[in-house]
Amino acid sequence: MKKQENKIALVTGSNRGLGREACRWLALEGYPVILTSRDKAKGQKAADDLANNGLKIYYHQLDVNDMQSIQTMYKYIEDTFGRLDILINNAGVFLDTQYVANRETVRDLTSPFEAKRNILLQTFEINTLGPFFMCQTFIPLMIKNGYGRIVNVSSSMGQLNTMESGWTAYRISKTALNAVTRIFAHEVTGKNILINSVHPGWVKTDMGGPSAPRSIEEGVETIVWAATLPDAGPNGQFLRDKQVIEW
Ligand SMILES: NC(=O)c1ccc[n+]([C@@H]2O[C@H](COP(=O)([O-])OP(=O)(O)OC[C@H]3O[C@@H](n4cnc5c(N)ncnc54)[C@H](OP(=O)(O)O)[C@@H]3O)[C@@H](O)[C@H]2O)c1
Repeated sequence: MKKQENKIALVTGSNRGLGREACRWLALEGYPVILTSRDKAKGQKAADDLANNGLKIYYHQLDVNDMQSIQTMYKYIEDTFGRLDILINNAGVFLDTQYVANRETVRDLTSPFEAKRNILLQTFEINTLGPFFMCQTFIPLMIKNGYGRIVNVSSSMGQLNTMESGWTAYRISKTALNAVTRIFAHEVTGKNILINSVHPGWVKTDMGGPSAPRSIEEGVETIVWAATLPDAGPNGQFLRDKQVIEW
C-alpha cells in the first residue's frame, strides 16, 4: 500500500474551479479525497465524473457557512476514517462587484466608500470564518493522529505589503484569513501540523474570469504542494509559486 493511501484529504468548495482540480491532483497522487460542495447535486456530479476516470473520490455535502454542516462533516469523517490528514480551505466568494454592475468602472465601484455591510459580512463569513471553523473543528483530530497539512487558499489581494483600494470586502476577508493561518499555525507548533496561506495567482476559473493569465493546472500546483509538504516544511507562511512571500 502506498503511503498516501493511509492519508485522507478534504477540499472545501470543490465542485468546480481550483477546488475540483485540487481533488483531481491529490487523487492522482494516490490520496483518498473527499470532494465537498454546498450544493449536493453539483458536488455529486463532479465527484462522479472524477471517479469515472478511475480516481478514489468520496463525496459529502459541506457548506462552510453553516456550523451544523461542519459538524455533520466532522462526524462523517470521524466515523468513516477516524482521521483527516489534509484540509484545503478553498471555498470562497468574490461578491464586491455584484451589487454595482451598472456603474462606470469596476475599480471605483468596489471602493471602501461604496462597500455595503451585507457584502462585507457575507464575504467575511464564507472566506474567513468558514476556514476558521474548519480549522477549529478538524485540528484536534489532526493533533490526535500526529499529522496535518492545511492550506488556506488566500490571495495577493489580501497582502498588506501591497494593499490598495478596490474590492474591499474580498481584500479584508483574505487579509483576515491570513491572520487565521498565523493564529492556528502558532497553536500547532511542534505537532507535525503545517498550516499555510497560498496565493494561487490569477487563474482562469468562474471567479478569475477568462482574462486570467494562469490555467487551473498552474493555479493548483502550489496549493497541492503546500498540502503535501514534508515534515520540515514551512508553517504559518504565505506562499506563492512554492516560495514564501511577504504578508
Ligand atoms: N481564480 C483566481 O484568480 C483566484 C485568485 C486568488 C485566490 N483565489 C481563491 O481560490 C479559491 C477558489 O477560487 P476559484 O477561482 O476556484 O473560484 P470559483 O470557481 O468561483 O469556485 C468557488 C467555489 O467555492 C464554493 N463556495 C462558495 N461558498 C461556499 C460555501 N459557503 N460553502 C462551500 N463552498 C462554497 C463554490 O460553490 P458554488 O458552486 O456552490 O458557488 C465553488 O465551488 C477561492 O478561495 C478564491 O478566493 C482565486
